Amino acid sequence: MTNNEECPHGKGSPDWCNQCTPQNSGTSQQNSDHNFDLTDAYSVETPEDNLDLYARWADTYESSFVADEGYVYHHGVAAAFLENFISRNEPILDVGCGTGLVGEALLANSSFESAIEGLDLSAEMLEYARLKKTSTGQPVYSDLHVGDLTATLDLPDNTYSGIVSCGTFTHGHVGPEAFDELYRIARPGALFAIAINPDHFSNQGFETRFYSDVSSGTITEPVYKKVQVYSTGPHAQDRFPIGIFHLN
Ligand SMILES: C[S@@+](CC[C@H](N)C(=O)[O-])C[C@H]1O[C@@H](n2cnc3c(N)ncnc32)[C@H](O)[C@@H]1O
Repeated sequence: MTNNEECPHGKGSPDWCNQCTPQNSGTSQQNSDHNFDLTDAYSVETPEDNLDLYARWADTYESSFVADEGYVYHHGVAAAFLENFISRNEPILDVGCGTGLVGEALLANSSFESAIEGLDLSAEMLEYARLKKTSTGQPVYSDLHVGDLTATLDLPDNTYSGIVSCGTFTHGHVGPEAFDELYRIARPGALFAIAINPDHFSNQGFETRFYSDVSSGTITEPVYKKVQVYSTGPHAQDRFPIGIFHLN
């Protein structure tokens, strides 16, 4: 079923909301056959929910969800990062890297030379990122870290010349509180290209956070580029914003 009305609970479309569409309730349990979808992704509320969901979803995330839903978000996010990034001999970090689609898309551009590290809450998703290889057989990710973006990260200060993220700043996942730690681990001048679900953006105070960070001189004024998320299906017309800015 496709529903073009606005969900009053901040999930965008009622199709993605358990409260608007009660038959969605308990979808995660019904999907114990690993056939997960957006309703499952948007029904999580805590890091523990995310750990549980992605542990069960990792095996089929790419083979079912990405393939069946025509998920193309990572291509737009990688392109936005590359358009703005000046390569330096310093690593970049893909936050909420999951199975590694953004890293793979970045390296599809042969001129990209920076080492890519990945961070995710889910060790199961990272196992798939670990398997990703370049055309010459090198690992796509030079290092992978288990970490919770809503907490302190076990990563050193002033390390990364770029921070990229796709599909992680969304309902029930990660909000603007993550930026304290992301600014700490980024180098001065680092490029941020952070894809944010538009409903989550409005409901979770990203605008206020960025306004305050610009006012304090912490970051440059964000520019928003909108990209396609799904190439097929009822949400093929959706365009989600990527916040692009630099750490001062
Ligand atoms: C929809 S997936 C996106 C994965 C990948 N970036 C992509 O585009 O395919 C969301 C990812 O965010 C991760 N995640 C959720 N909450 C997190 C948190 N608090 N800290 C770090 N990663 C988190 C999940 O484990 C999952 O891999």
